[in-house]
Amino acid sequence: MSVYDLIIKNGIVCTASDFYPADIGICGGKIAAIADSIDSSLAKEVIDAEGGIITPGGIDAHVHVDEPMKLLGDVVDTMGSATQSAVAGGTTTVIAFASQDVGLRGPKALSNSVKQAIDLYEEQTLYCDYGLHLIIARLEDESKQTCEELDDQLRNMYDDHGVSSVKVFMTYPGLQMSDYSILNTMYATRKNGITTMIHAENGDIVRWMTESLELQGLVQPYYHGVSRPTIVEGEATSRAITLATTMDTPILFVHVSSPEALDSIRKAQTSGLKVYAETCPQYMLLSDEDTKCHHDQSDKFEGAKNVCSPPLREKQNEQRIWTAMDNGTITIVSSDHCAYLYSSKFRGKHNAFDNGKGGGFRYIPNGMPGVCTRLPLLFDQGYLKNKLSSLMKFVELHCTNPAKIYGCYPKKGALLPGSSDADIVIWYPSKSKVPVKIRNEMLHHPCDYTPYEGFEVGNWPRYTLVHGKVVYKEGKLLQHNAEGHYLRRNTNSIPRNKWVNGWRPAYEKFGTPQQE
Ligand code: URP
Ligand code: ZN
Ligand code: ZN
Repeated sequence: MSVYDLIIKNGIVCTASDFYPADIGICGGKIAAIADSIDSSLAKEVIDAEGGIITPGGIDAHVHVDEPMKLLGDVVDTMGSATQSAVAGGTTTVIAFASQDVGLRGPKALSNSVKQAIDLYEEQTLYCDYGLHLIIARLEDESKQTCEELDDQLRNMYDDHGVSSVKVFMTYPGLQMSDYSILNTMYATRKNGITTMIHAENGDIVRWMTESLELQGLVQPYYHGVSRPTIVEGEATSRAITLATTMDTPILFVHVSSPEALDSIRKAQTSGLKVYAETCPQYMLLSDEDTKCHHDQSDKFEGAKNVCSPPLREKQNEQRIWTAMDNGTITIVSSDHCAYLYSSKFRGKHNAFDNGKGGGFRYIPNGMPGVCTRLPLLFDQGYLKNKLSSLMKFVELHCTNPAKIYGCYPKKGALLPGSSDADIVIWYPSKSKVPVKIRNEMLHHPCDYTPYEGFEVGNWPRYTLVHGKVVYKEGKLLQHNAEGHYLRRNTNSIPRNKWVNGWRPAYEKFGTPQQE
């Protein structure tokens, strides 16, 4: 009689804490056993890892796909295509965004915004599990009442759908929140144990710089970065830390790219504040040079492919990012996958030319694809090229810390027998590894480019397993095993109960905040 559905033999298991040769037994989609040697006759099926490294599947906690509100315009991915591309690069959980539907009212408004997104994704073939953050698009007004209403809405959203994180923006026309509104949000997220994710850029400086550059006729893609210098991110980061300190709320900065921001985050962490940071491969591997028009390029708009916010920084900045990843200032690495077609004249980056817009950087949709390439690039640069101190650090950054921070550990982000889903990546054995040249066609995504075209990596996921089933093997997707579903998450954002003075939120008078 079989004890296991599958045994993976002869691998080197690597988690955030350990690195050792072992066999893995899988049963009912879960890790059932990890041992020196497991008898092959106990399983229905055996995979020989041939000495390859085995890691938990990646968690990409920052992915944009098509959603009912279309807040970011016409991104090219559905949840189906994003999960497909994710597993082709070893990511087995994505956390995407549902946006607040500002047309909805009442205590279920946010819960129903999330439900609309889940209803849409349920129709699609999903290769891996997905969770959702909520984007707060607009608070109804700036009265004190708003935070009490938001409190109800967040509680319902969490109870109904297990959404335990929200993102707020300090920039972007139509999304930029005042400090007042951010405090209102934090008041409510703190009470409900919801993590507040922050896009930190000073939107007023960006607006002013953009207008000034336009007046001077400086509108090519490269000037998108000029309109958003590193201090723009640094100022917003330290302001958000002040707000979070006032409200005693844990926060996570998304897509951190600037040295000033890193300094503020490090200082806050050292003083004991719960401040977390995410960065993305583009900030460790690409630079503002990649947004320039080069003389050999016939297409003067090509740099638009790499327009994102915060923008790509000077080449010398990359080392700062790697150091911050290794010393713990940066807690997680996500892709910020936000794929727009490049060549389409009607959808995506070329929209910047529509209706007489003339290609000005203001009109280029911000974002780039990256859900597939995140893990192979980080494995290659971080581990094989020694930019991180260990393979365990790689695992910590790409899956274990995201799982802990976003409330799905140890179901995700670990290989713990009895607890973890059997979401696994088996890498090629080092003896057989050959450099792989990244080509857009390998990425199994609908986007017409990758910023990493031609980059060489020293390994690539050989097998990706989700819930114990192989969904990707040696370059091919196995659609019949695609059974991803929605992932409820737990709250995980515990305040410190340290205040700047005698002020306390009204709800504190009635007891401590609810936590799971
Ligand atoms: O340029 C970016 N980052 N696009 C995606 C939206 C966001 O701000 O995360
Ligand atoms: Zn953002
Ligand atoms: Zn994003």
